[in-house]
Amino acid sequence: MSTIVVVGTQWGDEGKGKIVDFLASQADVVARFQGGSNAGHTVTNEGREYKLHLLPSGILYSGCTCVIGNDVVLDPKLLLDEIDSMKALNRPMGTLRISNRCHVVMPYHKRLDALQEQFRGSSKVGTTGHGIGPCYADAADRIGIRVVSWMDKEAFATELKAALAYKNKLLTNVFGAEPFDFLEIFDEYCGYAERLRPYVCDTSSLMNKLIDEDKRILFEGAQAAMLDLSHGTYPFVTSSHPTAGAACIGLGIGPKCIQKVVGVVKAYATRVGEGPFPTEQLNENGVKLREIAHEYGATTGRPRRTGWLDMSVVRYAAQINGLDCIAITRLDILDTFPEIKICTGYRLNGEALHEFPASLKVLGQVEPVYETLPGWMCDTSAIREYSKLPANCRAYAERIAELAGTRLGIVSVGPSREQTIVLEKMF
Ligand code: GDP
Ligand code: IMO
Ligand code: MG
Repeated sequence: MSTIVVVGTQWGDEGKGKIVDFLASQADVVARFQGGSNAGHTVTNEGREYKLHLLPSGILYSGCTCVIGNDVVLDPKLLLDEIDSMKALNRPMGTLRISNRCHVVMPYHKRLDALQEQFRGSSKVGTTGHGIGPCYADAADRIGIRVVSWMDKEAFATELKAALAYKNKLLTNVFGAEPFDFLEIFDEYCGYAERLRPYVCDTSSLMNKLIDEDKRILFEGAQAAMLDLSHGTYPFVTSSHPTAGAACIGLGIGPKCIQKVVGVVKAYATRVGEGPFPTEQLNENGVKLREIAHEYGATTGRPRRTGWLDMSVVRYAAQINGLDCIAITRLDILDTFPEIKICTGYRLNGEALHEFPASLKVLGQVEPVYETLPGWMCDTSAIREYSKLPANCRAYAERIAELAGTRLGIVSVGPSREQTIVLEKMF
């Protein structure tokens, strides 16, 4: 067995797609285990950029089996658009498999996502608007529609009617919005079902078989620790568990099937959407980071909030994921900063905090403790060996690993596969 979970350690967009695509050259399988089309994973190959939302980041390898696990919420239209745009490129693709237990994102989930955000007003979450929260809520509420029912016209009609009876009441009576028409959704979604049917299977059986066959498997996390429903900055979180433990439930495999956990750490911090962000830099440093790094959301195009790397956050991510090592991405973005700050911990009323605050009120009041490290002021993007990186750059990377209490596994100095320096054997 040879398995690695790759997870985000901050607020998402750390470069998980790039790291998964890089590692996938040695893998047989890449499996997504949570989230949905809210994810935007960028993979750069042969100068071309691919923005993946539902397709796992192994899809560019023809020999790779790409699995969409049971706890991914599936937007069929967006998935079909992604498949079509891949096919239009006429390049070999991995083999796609979709769990028959995924919940399906319906048009009313997206409408409700928007209406709930509107209702929250100034306390909105800043969701991606992809219907993710309402779809997971329906799963928990036991009125969701799973792929297995959706593929069976009779069961789909019954379940959609039951769901609409409730949702249309909610839409009209609570929100004063237009109801949905049963036949319109039914016809549209039956069309999608026929096109996606060939990919659908029991992915838990498949994953267990692949594990038994000793295949090399990557579990690809979406979002990140701070957006975890249980462990993140609730309520400014997503509605799934973007942490390593969720790979088991989200794919129907046992906990002993996880061998290694890699946390992706962006060399600075970003956040899209609302919620606390203690190291946010609402100044020229923040603007410089956003412009150099082109920090705009891959899914919504929103400008990302930017700040210095927060090791309280990364250390907490190491704790809740059991990280073995980290992959530091976007080090090259810091090439022109004469000084780089790193937050080593928080203080509250002058006292050091030893645990990551559960309370948003507290998180809003903490004072980040910064350490200032000298920059390296040279272009690192063409460097391919760790020892050739400037000493100050290595010192920064090593300080991050030290503060996280993990090994330094990978350093990334650009978006493409070649711009990756490996310090630890991964498979
Ligand atoms: P993900 O959601 O974690 O997969 O990350 P995103 O794709 O949303 O955002 C990461 C961005 O950083 C993408 O545009 C990547 O192409 C880019 N990227 C990844 N690693 C590096 C790196 O080391 N240097 C630079 N300059 N860009 C990188
Ligand atoms: P990747 O996989 C960054 C954020 C949204 C919002 C909150 C809830 O590309 O790292 P949701 O639509 O999930 O209900 O929104 O979570 N969010 C992300 N932020 N990267 C992502 O994915 C995100 N997916 C959701 O901005 O604050
Ligand atoms: Mg992203």
